[in-house]
Amino acid sequence: MEIVRDIVIVLHLISFALLFGAWLVEAIARRVRITRAMHWGLAAALVTGLALAAPWGLGDGELNYMKIGIKLVVLLAIGAVLGIGAARQKRDGAVPPVLFWVAGALTLVNVTIAVLV
Ligand code: HEM
Repeated sequence: MEIVRDIVIVLHLISFALLFGAWLVEAIARRVRITRAMHWGLAAALVTGLALAAPWGLGDGELNYMKIGIKLVVLLAIGAVLGIGAARQKRDGAVPPVLFWVAGALTLVNVTIAVLV
């Protein structure tokens, strides 16, 4: 089971890389927009995160459910921001900059919680 857990952790990290990398590419290019890659990264981070957190043996027995719960709430907040931002982008042709920056900041908050807490 250890190897399965390791593989899911790698997939979880790739999901984070996809979400944050896609956001960073837009930020560096000074394009305030939400892309499909961000949505895919978020969805994959949720699926792999839940797989790691679920009580079916993938956990290492000492899961910090407080930390996982906070990460889940932050991830849902990122989802809300990306969803609202994408809808506004479709409707008005532009994302309110605050939504774009909050999405990146919340992703950084989650990776910081994951590593430091
Ligand atoms: C943008 C969202 C997320 C980011 C950036 C993120 C980032 C990370 C990182 C960097 C690790 C490796 C930490 C380490 O091994 O030291 C990790 C592990 C883990 N993540 Fe996430 N994660 C996110 C969302 C989630 C969600 C939504 C869940 C569950 C509901 C979750 C559950 C876990 C679990 C169970 C582990 C392994 C055990 C642990 O070290 O706590 N993650 N995450």
